[in-house]
Amino acid sequence: MLSLLVLALPLLLSLGHAAPAPNQDLERVGIVGGQEAPVGNWPWQVSLRVKDRYWKHICGGSLIHRYWVLTAAHCVGPDITDPADLMVQLREQHLYYRDQLLPIKRVIMHPKYYVAEGGFDIALLELKNRVNISSQVKVVALPPALEPFPPGTPCWVTGWGDVHKKVSLPPPFPLKEVKVPIVENSRCDAEYHTGLFTGNNVRIVKNDMICAGDNSSDACQGDSGGPLVCKVNGTWMQAGVVSWGDGCAKPNRPGIYTRVTSYLSWIHQYVPKKP
Ligand code: ARG
Repeated sequence: MLSLLVLALPLLLSLGHAAPAPNQDLERVGIVGGQEAPVGNWPWQVSLRVKDRYWKHICGGSLIHRYWVLTAAHCVGPDITDPADLMVQLREQHLYYRDQLLPIKRVIMHPKYYVAEGGFDIALLELKNRVNISSQVKVVALPPALEPFPPGTPCWVTGWGDVHKKVSLPPPFPLKEVKVPIVENSRCDAEYHTGLFTGNNVRIVKNDMICAGDNSSDACQGDSGGPLVCKVNGTWMQAGVVSWGDGCAKPNRPGIYTRVTSYLSWIHQYVPKKP
């Protein structure tokens, strides 16, 4: 009984498209403070497309190797998507305008993934063909295992997701970027407990997650799977994968990302360290 409650409460916080968050109409700030990304910024950003009446954007992702894209498990699961129903579009300034979709050979979901709030929200897509690196298309570095990304680290999240809760990006769908403050895990967990009856001993923000954002900057629906990148010692590295949140840019509800350092060895079971 108690374990059921423990499982169910974080679920109430909202799960992507599945369950609406409580109080979702109280705040409609969304990705305030974001702007169109300059051409050439974030050359690892990709758009994940699913077969519908057209190849529809469902999530972001990042190019971490010439054959591999990193994304969120909730973008492709929990029922494993047939790789034939998915395509990847590399860095594009305006979504859909100059599509050159790339086929996928294999979808690898983290085997422990169930729902985003439970953690393990990470997946790999293996491309059929090797990507050509150019000025517009580059691989993002993965962080060293012990990189903590402390508060104060300059980090950005990018994507074609909603600009406010339930307000989609209008045409011509420019890639957007926003700088987001890192919120340390125990503080983020405490913030998520405000306004809830969930016991303070029940962890909402798990160790394999990293929080970033405030009431004026956040990712939102459609940004999932996309990268949170931080500049550390002059190098951009991917700190997180957009995973979940309660609404978008609400006070005391930072965006929650899958912490990439928690999954380096899992990633390297598949992705070679050499390019
Ligand atoms: N789950 C959402 C998606 O599928 C992303 C949620 C991110 N939310 C946030 N407030 N940072 O696109």
